[in-house]
Amino acid sequence: MVGQFGDLMNPEEVRNLYPLLAERAFLFSGGLAPASLRTKQAIERFTNELTFETAERYKNLNEEYRIVQQLFAGLIGADQSEIVITDTTAAGSNLAVEMIERSPGTNVVVDHFGYGSSIYPWKLPSRQHIELRFVAPRARTIHIDDLAAAVDNDTIAISVSHVSEMTGFRHDLETIGTLAADYGAALLVDAMQSAGALQIDVHSAGVHFLSCGAMKWLLGSSGVGFFYCNEQYLQGLPPRAGITGFASQTVPWPERTLEPETGADRLRLGAPNLIGLAATKPGLEILHETGMQTVERHVLDLSGYCIDQLQSRDLTVLTPTPEHLRAGIVAIELENASEVCSHMASRGVDGWSYGNMLRVDPHIFNNRGDIDRFLAALDESSR
Ligand SMILES: Cc1ncc(COP(=O)(O)O)c(C=O)c1O
Repeated sequence: MVGQFGDLMNPEEVRNLYPLLAERAFLFSGGLAPASLRTKQAIERFTNELTFETAERYKNLNEEYRIVQQLFAGLIGADQSEIVITDTTAAGSNLAVEMIERSPGTNVVVDHFGYGSSIYPWKLPSRQHIELRFVAPRARTIHIDDLAAAVDNDTIAISVSHVSEMTGFRHDLETIGTLAADYGAALLVDAMQSAGALQIDVHSAGVHFLSCGAMKWLLGSSGVGFFYCNEQYLQGLPPRAGITGFASQTVPWPERTLEPETGADRLRLGAPNLIGLAATKPGLEILHETGMQTVERHVLDLSGYCIDQLQSRDLTVLTPTPEHLRAGIVAIELENASEVCSHMASRGVDGWSYGNMLRVDPHIFNNRGDIDRFLAALDESSR
């Protein structure tokens, strides 16, 4: 479905759907995306339905779930039956870890840029017999050679955050997919900082599990997440994931026998998050209507422009310069990052700071003018 509606909207038209951009240079999509006018209307519609047409609303409880499931599948090249809608990145990561065959003497390869949501599930007491191998960056890059050196025949999984929230570094999923396949290991991807910003094709990249939340680059709601599970892990009854609910089973609940649904539906638990889905669907539609090729191009152009400008100011840019090693996140090292971030906010520029790191995250609705406003605020605070 990638490209099915693509090219219906250009970045300027997307921008017009976001009233916040008329006021602020919002550069914080790696944190929480603003609502579009379409999202606002969808939430209002939902509220009205729930207030005045409650029984009617119940009749199509699953309709939005199916639409959103299909829209997300299309954005990452998955089949709809391989997607379950969750609430967070961590929910999917925990499911993936639960579904992978584990035994003493095995290991999992991760790296220092991996986010907690995908690392912690490996550290639970029931998994302590698995060795966690951390690969360190060199020159702010995780090198495929270093990952390869950590993998061996006892590696059951390679688990990475596709794009790092701290530096903006991007892994090459295709190459890691080949490495994982060579050793028969599963590839787990936390796509929280990439899905909705980059083109992803889970099948061609050899990704077995991918997890993310909707509230950042996917332009959706908090409390809504997605979990892709490759078909091969969904076969066999029941799945290894040790949880179930009425929505996972085909047999009506009074009979109390376990007969799991087909596909990723067997990982569902119960009634969907209706308000969250209502607030997520418009953002996914916007991405489809723009086309992920256009979105990715725009995001890379803006992050590239921003990096050029920062480098010309002699600042320490943490994000790699080559296009294939980055996405939408641009980070610099600054001693007074938090102070600068507050100054930016006072000038109508939204970014993020953490310790000595200052970050801006241009998305499809941003333009060079927003980056210039950020740079002007940055220059002011260094005077
Ligand atoms: C790389 C990455 N993964 C995951 C998350 C969030 O995880 P969760 O959806 O479990 O809250 C973030 C949030 O900043 C992130 O940057």
